[in-house]
Amino acid sequence: MPKQKRIAVLPGDGIGPEIVEEGAKVAKAAGEQFGYTLQFDFGLVGGGAIERLKQPLPQETLTLCRESDAVLLGAVGGPRWDRNPPELRPEKALLGLRKQLDLFANLRPATLFPGLAKSSALKPEVLDGVDLLVVRELTSGIYFGKQFTEQTERGAKATDTLVYEEHEIERIVRRAFEIAKGRRKKLTSVDKANILESSRLWRKVVDRVAEEYPDVQVEHMLVDNCAMQIIRRPTDFDVIVTENMFGDILSDEAAILTGSIGMLPSASLGGGDRGLYEPVHGSAPDIAGQGVANPIATILSVAMMFRHSFQDDEAAKAIEGAVTDVFASGARTMDVVSAGELALSTEELGDKVVEALKRYH
Ligand code: NAI
Ligand code: MG
Repeated sequence: MPKQKRIAVLPGDGIGPEIVEEGAKVAKAAGEQFGYTLQFDFGLVGGGAIERLKQPLPQETLTLCRESDAVLLGAVGGPRWDRNPPELRPEKALLGLRKQLDLFANLRPATLFPGLAKSSALKPEVLDGVDLLVVRELTSGIYFGKQFTEQTERGAKATDTLVYEEHEIERIVRRAFEIAKGRRKKLTSVDKANILESSRLWRKVVDRVAEEYPDVQVEHMLVDNCAMQIIRRPTDFDVIVTENMFGDILSDEAAILTGSIGMLPSASLGGGDRGLYEPVHGSAPDIAGQGVANPIATILSVAMMFRHSFQDDEAAKAIEGAVTDVFASGARTMDVVSAGELALSTEELGDKVVEALKRYH
């Protein structure tokens, strides 16, 4: 019996459609290889949805996502919508999707692939063996707190509020412990407990949950120190768990470890199997339409889709193995080529991964 899965595909703006095409191509190939019947349904999101339907996240897109087993998203945004009011900004769709689908756990792995150390700004010996995972809380904290601007005698006054409830911390921390248990069993919890009240609660919850995971080694680290250590000694990290904004910033920093922002995949998960899979990078308007974007972040997101939504580690490892082989063969896009190497197009690199995948069966 073939395994039936429905994937909602939301290409979005800028390079979104170009990279999602390669991601879907690899998903289709892996699906055929591992006995799936995959149904792909396309939806509008971001700037394109604003143009056509006057809203960044149309109801029909949300319904499509709710009825699917997984969502594959490209990226949203671009200069054309930068001056829109908050409700009509493409990025609004991302927060809406995460909140509406209750996707509270954002997994962002940073892995170094063969031959890419020289594309990084860091020394190759610092990077040798990098394999870390940032687990970021995604549906609370300062991005979802009350925001308002008041007029005072001295001018405008803008307020953002950072709120965390114990149950919100507990579910993300628990997820991180579970993941760490299946990896190298080391968990770094990142906060700003010397200053922030919400961080002190965070630390307390981590210590309480830690008692249930005696085989996982736990350390607490202040976010400013972590920002430094992540590029000073990145191989010391296994799983990092942190709140929404710290995770946003630290995972972009971790992109430097992999050679390019075009290499970083992500999974956003909730309580069930359904997840949203997207590259960490944005819509890259500067290179959109040229066919030069790196599709690997999206392709590795597809691997995460097989692992987390379809519970298929074998298919996920096959895709990751194919990507490793492709890099080992010297094939790469413009963002990670070194002197003397030839850059392939987005589509050519996607084809190479599909070709390499055939060896994994
Ligand atoms: P960006 O990630 O789009 O681009 C930053 C730099 O990295 C650019 O030079 C770009 O060319 C390069 N880059 C990004 N992805 C690449 C890839 N796959 N291959 C090769 N090079 C790549 O971030 P930026 O420029 O700050 O934002 C552009 C737009 O994207 C904005 O409208 C922003 O709001 C939006 N954005 C959307 C996100 C999403 O949809 N999840 C996340 C981040 C930004
Ligand atoms: Mg970011």
